[in-house]
Amino acid sequence: MLSDDTFGEIAALMHGAVGLSLPPHKKALVASRLGQRIQRLGLSGYEAYLARIRGRADADEFQVAVDLLTTHETYFFRERRHFDLLERELSSGPPRSIAAWSAACSYGDEAYSIAMLLTDLEMQGRTRPGWSVLATDISDQVLREAREAVFPAERLRELTPQQLKRHCLRGEGEAEGQVALRDEVASRVAFGRLNLCETIDVPGPFDVIFLRNVLIYFDAPTKAAVVDAVAAQLRPGGLFFIGTAEGRLSSCVPLQPLGPGAYRRAA
Ligand SMILES: C[S@@+](CC[C@H](N)C(=O)[O-])C[C@H]1O[C@@H](n2cnc3c(N)ncnc32)[C@H](O)[C@@H]1O
Repeated sequence: MLSDDTFGEIAALMHGAVGLSLPPHKKALVASRLGQRIQRLGLSGYEAYLARIRGRADADEFQVAVDLLTTHETYFFRERRHFDLLERELSSGPPRSIAAWSAACSYGDEAYSIAMLLTDLEMQGRTRPGWSVLATDISDQVLREAREAVFPAERLRELTPQQLKRHCLRGEGEAEGQVALRDEVASRVAFGRLNLCETIDVPGPFDVIFLRNVLIYFDAPTKAAVVDAVAAQLRPGGLFFIGTAEGRLSSCVPLQPLGPGAYRRAA
């Protein structure tokens, strides 16, 4: 059984290291997710597991615990209205060279969606060729899979048939049900590991930042600090997106609301 004390220690560990907020009502979830792992490892219980991850004694296992306690749910063109807004904004005015950052990219679906959009805009002469997409996440496991650029077809359900044809290759035989991205898109996204709760060292400033569906893990002070640090990487006039379910933002960086989850940094 997960005691209150052990739960409290696990929660403090996760909050200190990765900003994860685990209030008491999440105890059952923590017990269930870590319980399965403990069984698989053949450990005696939660205390033994805590001893293993405390002080990052076993850094790999610590990362497994973070992965188990967060969700990596994502898919291509999630919250399509953000991509529509981005397309409209980039299409107005003279073509520019765009630097974009997907700041909690999970398996890369979001970053590759941005790359598909920029590839299409470049083909139409609506953006300049030197665009770039940076994608970061705290989890090495998701980054490893993201770099492979192969996805279950179901995660590309929001692509139009034209986008599928232009940017993807359907797997056959053993790879049936899988989709590989064409190199023109896959090679344009650079992946790296970054904990948003530590010093943010990225090659900014960016014209576009997606910080979507990660703020939900953080308590209010952590959320505010992460938003300030990430938004500071935005060029004046740049676009900033959070998940539409993540509430309104308040930030030291001047961000003007454009629509649900969408902001522009004041010039
Ligand atoms: C639900 S996914 C969001 C993926 C994508 N942005 C989307 O909206 O579809 C949340 C991601 O945040 C990452 N994450 C959680 N805490 C983090 C932290 N402190 N720093 C960086 N990434 C973090 C998780 O590893 C996970 O891949």
